[in-house]
Amino acid sequence: MTNWSEIDRITKQWLKEAGERIRQSFSKQLQIATKANRNDLVTNIDQDTEQFFIERIRKTYPDHKILGEEGYGDEINGTNGVIWVIDPIDGTMNFVHMQRHFTISIGIFEDGKGKLAYIYDVTNDELYHAMNGKGAFYNEKQLPKFSEKLLCDCIVGLNAIWLTENRRIDYRILIPLVKSVRGTRSFGSAALEMAYVATGWMDAYISLRLSPWDFAAGMIIVEELGGKATKLNGEPLSILEKSSVFLARSDVHEQISEQFLSNYVENPMRDYRKKR
Ligand code: IPD
Ligand code: CA
Ligand code: CA
Ligand code: CA
Repeated sequence: MTNWSEIDRITKQWLKEAGERIRQSFSKQLQIATKANRNDLVTNIDQDTEQFFIERIRKTYPDHKILGEEGYGDEINGTNGVIWVIDPIDGTMNFVHMQRHFTISIGIFEDGKGKLAYIYDVTNDELYHAMNGKGAFYNEKQLPKFSEKLLCDCIVGLNAIWLTENRRIDYRILIPLVKSVRGTRSFGSAALEMAYVATGWMDAYISLRLSPWDFAAGMIIVEELGGKATKLNGEPLSILEKSSVFLARSDVHEQISEQFLSNYVENPMRDYRKKR
């Protein structure tokens, strides 16, 4: 039997340690490289942080598998067993430009089911976390389950790019949604934005293209609170697949799906594993 409380305790300890190393790096020169294009950044700290977790997980839990953005983990082809899905820095552009609004994001799954989740806001030393069946928390404070909310009172996390011509969605689909809600926000870290939905500071988050490490933790936390995390067409998310992501408190998810997303068609994305 997997001892989830023990994994929870040790992961929190590792997060604090990794966070401290990242904060120390603020005063040092970063090595910045680009990946798929000139805005797709990666730094030595993204790589070091992923390796930091992988070394510790492999030593402590040799039978667990790891899926990490920077590619130091395992080749994952199925959801059997325990899988750690790790984004060592979610919001690398923010990290490089602003030294704030970035997180370490970790979702841990067993046979495809979300068990533990962590979104650690490194600059503010704030942890959003959840354990399946035991609740979701902002630091030590337990978060209440979602209540109902009118769409006109909602704040939606949405990047302006999806309101311009793009390959993933007819941008006209989202314009009526933007006009119907109280406001939109974009913070540049998908995981942090999902954490903000969990706390109720935002009510929904939409992205047309995310990888499993971007949404793994946020999905577990929001579902623990009774919210929904799906693709924009309502289909379930998979940690083996890059896809659109639509996450919200349940009633808001339903209202947005019915009123604004019925014309959306999801086109399968290139396998995220082929990028490396
Ligand atoms: C990115 C951030 C960003 C989202 C991008 C992601 P990264 O992750 O979450 O908010 O819009 O799609 O790739 O590359 O900084 O880990
Ligand atoms: Ca990245
Ligand atoms: Ca990310
Ligand atoms: Ca990242």
